[in-house]
Amino acid sequence: MQAFHPFRDLRGQDPVAVRSQAFALARDLHPGQTAGLLVAEEPTLLMQSVNLQVRHRLHWEAEPMAAGGWRVELRHRDDVEPGTLMELLGRDHERLDRLFAEALHRVNANDVPTAAPLLDSYTLGLRRHVHVENLILAPALEVPREPVTVMLEEHERIVEQLDILASFFEDGLPAAGEVAPFFALLSGSLAKHEAREEQNLFPLWDAALKLRHAEAEQAALLERVKGILAGSEDDRLSH
Ligand SMILES: [Fe+2]
Ligand SMILES: [Fe+2]
Repeated sequence: MQAFHPFRDLRGQDPVAVRSQAFALARDLHPGQTAGLLVAEEPTLLMQSVNLQVRHRLHWEAEPMAAGGWRVELRHRDDVEPGTLMELLGRDHERLDRLFAEALHRVNANDVPTAAPLLDSYTLGLRRHVHVENLILAPALEVPREPVTVMLEEHERIVEQLDILASFFEDGLPAAGEVAPFFALLSGSLAKHEAREEQNLFPLWDAALKLRHAEAEQAALLERVKGILAGSEDDRLSH
């Protein structure tokens, strides 16, 4: 606990102030840093909504204090191994986002030679990610059809758009102006797709996992997906 001192004491504050201060602390937390809060009410709902606002960058733990109120410890998520499958996939979304954003940035700066290998890494990462979602999780986890159907259709469109983009690179490097519009288009579809998945599908998958799969099974699936995202089943990728 000592590492988290000083705890910011919000116990006497109204809920709006508590929320905005907790958000400010979470927003400014970088890898390697810790922060702490003291709050009057049980903090699960508060911390879940703050965590949503910072796109799940937060790892937090809370414990009740003998004198009343709760002590909450905050860390940057990157300092903690992903504990659930959805956390792992959410982090992979962000990693892929950063990679694609960097490739887009290079193309916009007219630097296609350094954008090309970033696009290659991105494409491989996306194929692994889609493999996990389409072929491992969708068949294994029983949830309402609609968000799954939306996901599968969007994956197809994304893979199609990536194929079009890749075709520009087949016979040497294209001019930045030729590919920039495709990068911009794809970047928009990706962001929307990931947000939809994280909002509509991941909570259902998470609940299905916890409800119908024993802990050992969940842990085995988590390890398998970690492996796939790192390349362990690249010989079986379909796209
Ligand atoms: Fe997806
Ligand atoms: Fe995804």
